[in-house]
Amino acid sequence: MHKQALSNYVEGEQHRLVEGWLGDGAISLILAADRRQKAAGVRGPVLEIGVHHGRLFLLFAMLARSDEKALALDLFEDQHLNIDWSGRGDRAALWKNIDTYLGDRERVIAIRANSLDLGPNSLDEHLSGQKVRLLSVDGGHTREHVLNDLALASAWLHADGIVFVDDFYNADWPGVNEGVVRYLTDPAHGLAPLCYGDNKLLMCKREGWQSANAWLTTEFLPTCAAYKKVAFCDYETYHVTPPAPSTV
Ligand SMILES: C[S@@+](CC[C@H](N)C(=O)[O-])C[C@H]1O[C@@H](n2cnc3c(N)ncnc32)[C@H](O)[C@@H]1O
Repeated sequence: MHKQALSNYVEGEQHRLVEGWLGDGAISLILAADRRQKAAGVRGPVLEIGVHHGRLFLLFAMLARSDEKALALDLFEDQHLNIDWSGRGDRAALWKNIDTYLGDRERVIAIRANSLDLGPNSLDEHLSGQKVRLLSVDGGHTREHVLNDLALASAWLHADGIVFVDDFYNADWPGVNEGVVRYLTDPAHGLAPLCYGDNKLLMCKREGWQSANAWLTTEFLPTCAAYKKVAFCDYETYHVTPPAPSTV
């Protein structure tokens, strides 16, 4: 883990210098999930689908331990396949930001791919049998992309992993909500919703929902500035206003 880089990025607000989309509340949600996993000894790579210039991905990479890979998957040079113009992956900008704010490239792997072409085994060479513990779904924002990327996330996720779905309840990107709702109404869905706030929906493995919900309600919600219990697709879920981000 890159402790000093992380503190500079979060408390030092360097994340604001990286082009992209990542709110303070979203940072808090990611830090809280990482803290829970580390307390429970959960290990595994971190992965983002749709990195743009790496604003969120850098946070994931800083949280990764020295033996955990950080995988950045994007269309990169294939922007003609970016059908809804949800950002624009730029490999050079990503590496520049990694050099500037993370400080080394050791465990970072940039993967050029259209997520729509991928299947559960497509990342086998990078995952080496491991499951992903932190996974951001922020690629194409159409209903089809979201359905596709949630299915991939479910296949790649650790039993105690957390998925962060971007632009949930963002009025500019209705395809995200449509995709999530369609996904959850399929009886075979493998991911379940936990809470949402600051543009992110957190999901976990369906079989890990009870335990993740227990952590959420006993440990995370009491730290929030506000929260409201809601019913969403037959799940007890929470709309949260996370606390200010802190790495200590
Ligand atoms: C909203 S941006 C990501 C923002 C980023 N997570 C951040 O922290 O700022 C969406 C990204 O998804 C990529 N993308 C769009 N469609 C994709 C697809 N089908 N497969 C992989 N990446 C895709 C785009 O190139 C773009 O970089």
